[in-house]
Amino acid sequence: MQPTVASSENDEPVLVRRLWPQERSLWEEHLLRLNREDRRLRFTGTTSDAAIRQHCVAADFLDTVLYGAFIDGALRGVGECCLLQREWPRRAELAFSVESRWRGLGIGTLLFGRLVTFARNRTLGRLDLVTVSGNRPMQAIAARFGMHLNNDAGEVEGRLRLRWPSYSSVLEEAVAEGEAWWQQIRQDLPRCLPLACA
Ligand SMILES: CC(C)(COP(=O)(O)OP(=O)(O)OC[C@H]1O[C@@H](n2cnc3c(N)ncnc32)[C@H](O)[C@@H]1OP(=O)(O)O)[C@@H](O)C(=O)NCCC(=O)NCCS
Repeated sequence: MQPTVASSENDEPVLVRRLWPQERSLWEEHLLRLNREDRRLRFTGTTSDAAIRQHCVAADFLDTVLYGAFIDGALRGVGECCLLQREWPRRAELAFSVESRWRGLGIGTLLFGRLVTFARNRTLGRLDLVTVSGNRPMQAIAARFGMHLNNDAGEVEGRLRLRWPSYSSVLEEAVAEGEAWWQQIRQDLPRCLPLACA
């Protein structure tokens, strides 16, 4: 599947890359910017600032992988992949958040695609997703990736069986990571050059 091309207002390509444990605070700030309704959609319930902080502090980066979407240097979207079961067949749960101003640009789709490839290349067997039944955008993205959706008592549960990794899926991940790394260097370079020349 070709990823949707997303662009910022300045026509800069959106930078999608892994988030690292030392970037936990960026993730927390992004989630805290979500309004009440977005938090309900993201966490399937009312979520206070304190609960968001706890969610970020408690995340174990050995079991949780985050991909972030940066627009003009700011983190505006996050895809989370949290390992649910270590034993075979391993499975993980996905969750997504994109700040309202940057929705509909394909960022959620990009994050979803990156996490599917990541999980497949780590030989995970299945990805799960839980969302409220009215969340059409999330369901549209999940369906696009072939996720089986089951509506039950106001919640929609998604299941996606993953294929084995292939040479091309590993290459796809490596190329995407390389492109992101290069994009990051290009963005950082103008800030670094004056220091290097001083
Ligand atoms: C769900 C969410 C991550 C999507 O992010 P996004 O960047 O806007 O997603 P995209 O732009 O890639 O795609 C949105 C899709 O929803 C579709 N969509 C948007 N509004 C819709 C609606 N009212 N009805 C049906 N489909 C809708 C779009 O057409 C698009 O599908 P398409 O690419 O097939 O056309 C974002 O809306 C969000 O953060 N919501 C709040 C938190 C949340 O709901 N998290 C999910 C719970 S895990």
